[in-house]
Amino acid sequence: MVAMRGVYEFLSLPVIAYFLLGGPRIQKEYGLGMWGKLRLVYRMYHNTRKATTGTSFRAHVAMAAKILAVPRKTEGVIVECGCWKGGTTANLSLIADITRRRLIVYDSFEGLPEPATGDRWAHAFGTGAYKGELDEVRDNVARYGKIECCEFRKGWFSESLPGHKEPVVAAFVDVDYQNSLHDCVLYLWPHLTKQGWLFIDEYSRLDYCALFFSEWWWAKYFDRPPPGLLGAGCGIGVGQYFTGPLREKTPYQAPNSVGMTRKDFYGMWDYVPDGSGLEPRPYNGDAWTTTARLPEENAPRQLEKILERMEAEGNS
Ligand SMILES: C[S@@+](CC[C@H](N)C(=O)[O-])C[C@H]1O[C@@H](n2cnc3c(N)ncnc32)[C@H](O)[C@@H]1O
Repeated sequence: MVAMRGVYEFLSLPVIAYFLLGGPRIQKEYGLGMWGKLRLVYRMYHNTRKATTGTSFRAHVAMAAKILAVPRKTEGVIVECGCWKGGTTANLSLIADITRRRLIVYDSFEGLPEPATGDRWAHAFGTGAYKGELDEVRDNVARYGKIECCEFRKGWFSESLPGHKEPVVAAFVDVDYQNSLHDCVLYLWPHLTKQGWLFIDEYSRLDYCALFFSEWWWAKYFDRPPPGLLGAGCGIGVGQYFTGPLREKTPYQAPNSVGMTRKDFYGMWDYVPDGSGLEPRPYNGDAWTTTARLPEENAPRQLEKILERMEAEGNS
């Protein structure tokens, strides 16, 4: 089974390079031709076999695809919260190097914290788990990535993240506990650029993902509707089947992706067709999904577009 998985993953590398890193969105200014992309995917794959990591190279390539699509002129760093032994850090540092950005890594370097009350994903026996010493992480990144792009900020998120100042084009938050996620989103969200990305690893835990859909949370801390999370429950598609929930992991059913959202996304559940009296909360921000417009504005816009297209095709 393990050997089969290895073969499958190896053979899928060119497909991943072509489909995830192909297309016009990847900025040409980063100078990555097809070979460069294939080399990058291979290196990411290889690194995850050498340096310990809790996430897959597919997840890393998926993040690369989004970060490489951000033009260089958009100022901002890449952030990783929760690095464990640094396997993912090494791969993120490769992306940082290509895009000439800094990678800032936040971690306690003491493993998971003591559980906070009410945190459904925290356990007393988890305290100290996933501990990676700072030197160990540095060594892994120096060996498999680009250490010169990295800055390490040690401490509990509740103490280190409030001091964060730099604009962020992308943040990868893999922190296990709900309370840790809360701190990361609370302190990093204001720094995300207009279309900055936030990725998480625990996308298969629906109650964990709920933060991204909680009207209450987003109204309380940011006075805005929730952004939602693409891939909640199953991860964004990276070419592998995942029929979760996580009861067993077979080679073709392992979750291998990330969940993601963006600063300008809009994920409010404002579809209220039964006249229950609930009113969708209008959002005048510059949000990305079509639901950012009220239905009465949106439907005529769609119809207009269809009519324009029919006219252009001479079918009117
Ligand atoms: C599952 S590991 C991260 C795995 C890593 N992203 C990877 O791909 O290999 C979780 C990390 O989050 C860190 N962490 C969790 N909660 C934290 C907190 N409140 N403050 C600082 N670090 C925290 C832990 O020290 C640990 O390194």
